Amino acid sequence: MKLCMIGTGYVGLVSGVCFSDLGNEVICVDRDQKKVEDLKKGIIPIYEPGLDELVLKNCSNKRLKFSTNLKESVLKSDIIFICVGTPTKKNSNGADLSQIYNVAKEISSSISKFKIIITKSTVPVTTGDEIEKIISQKVSKKLFSVVSNPEFLREGEAIRDFTYPDRVVIGTMEKKSNKILKNLYSPLISKGAKYVNTSRRAAELIKYASNAFLATKITFINELANLCEKINVNIEDISIGMGLDKRIGGRFLRAGPAYGGSCFPKDTKAIVSTADKFKTNLSVIKSVIKSNDNRSLLLLKRVEDILKNKIKNKKICFLGVTFKANTDDMRDSSSLSMIPSLIKKGAKVNYYDPTGEKIDFKRLKNVKFDDNINSAIKNSDLIIIHTEWNDFKSINFKKKVQNKKFVIFDMRNIYSATKMKELKIKYFGVGL
Ligand SMILES: NC(=O)c1ccc[n+]([C@@H]2O[C@H](COP(=O)([O-])OP(=O)(O)OC[C@H]3O[C@@H](n4cnc5c(N)ncnc54)[C@H](O)[C@@H]3O)[C@@H](O)[C@H]2O)c1
Repeated sequence: MKLCMIGTGYVGLVSGVCFSDLGNEVICVDRDQKKVEDLKKGIIPIYEPGLDELVLKNCSNKRLKFSTNLKESVLKSDIIFICVGTPTKKNSNGADLSQIYNVAKEISSSISKFKIIITKSTVPVTTGDEIEKIISQKVSKKLFSVVSNPEFLREGEAIRDFTYPDRVVIGTMEKKSNKILKNLYSPLISKGAKYVNTSRRAAELIKYASNAFLATKITFINELANLCEKINVNIEDISIGMGLDKRIGGRFLRAGPAYGGSCFPKDTKAIVSTADKFKTNLSVIKSVIKSNDNRSLLLLKRVEDILKNKIKNKKICFLGVTFKANTDDMRDSSSLSMIPSLIKKGAKVNYYDPTGEKIDFKRLKNVKFDDNINSAIKNSDLIIIHTEWNDFKSINFKKKVQNKKFVIFDMRNIYSATKMKELKIKYFGVGL
């Protein structure tokens, strides 16, 4: 099939590359000229394990192309996936849909034969209705169908998630589009993905409801971790004991820093905003947002306690600054608020991240990037394990840290507190 992905970011690039690997002809479009030029040269703009090999393979067999020309790419394609950003609006919790509607307007001048227009971006319920209205101002309704097909991939596991999804959700009541899309996804369905055909509005809501539920699970266990710290119970035992119940499940039930990333913070806010618009109070999700907003402050208070309120001139090393492992995405990472707060209190922060130096910290005084773990931790008073990269799981701290009085605050509980005690290392985890 001939596909066009509009927006070549985390979702558009990964799904475009994977669709081409399944045998389709795919054009990935982006308005960012540099990104497109780089991709044409094989330079991948994001860190995503396995992505570079798939891009090279499918470019060389000519199934995958990159372009900045939206109109021409849409004209050449039968199925158009909208994969642009839907960030939070500047002065409200609602999703900013300007990128989506701009694309809808642009598409409408390139439709001369039947096309399926799909929102893969996460969009609030009724956005599909709006896109249909915009396009039908220029094009006969017989020539297009607007479908919702939300994407559930996770950064860091994106290729596996795309190729082996739990489910493919297709929101359309039109038989023709449903048949074409079931066929497009048939290689994934034959590997075990469940195919869910529902209304467009339901598909839009399924995505937000899923993200809000996962954010709730994380926040639930984070709050329980706060209790565990007061009653000498290990939160890891609680996660295991609860997670083994199949009705609950162990995933997204590990205590840690505030949830971040490009999806949960914005999507929890957007679903609450949509519900408010329809005069429905999603009070559970509202309290999840509030609790998560407070989480970084709580962890900073813990840092103060660990350092006995003597933060000034302390050398604090962050291992990992992205919101999770195996991605370079800094959007809404809790390090973005924690590091500046520690600096304000007089700390000297350095950090190491396997995906390199971050522009977000470049202008901050007293924040330094180290390009390897050993030099990063060498002179630390406090080492904060912020992100769960495998690279951080077997560090010989005793050998590598010169300051013998160093302390570790492991926000991901990747080390055993008992082993650390045996090694006589001062070690704090979350919910321990
Ligand atoms: N990142 C994830 O893990 C993830 C997972 C599932 C769903 N989503 C959703 O998918 C959508 C995209 O997310 P993302 O993380 O890939 O965003 P992103 O910011 O990485 O990529 C969006 C891209 O769209 C391009 N763009 C914007 N307007 C354009 C236009 N008019 N023409 C061509 N290109 C244009 C931008 O230049 C950018 O490269 C969002 O709605 C997000 O919520 C993201």
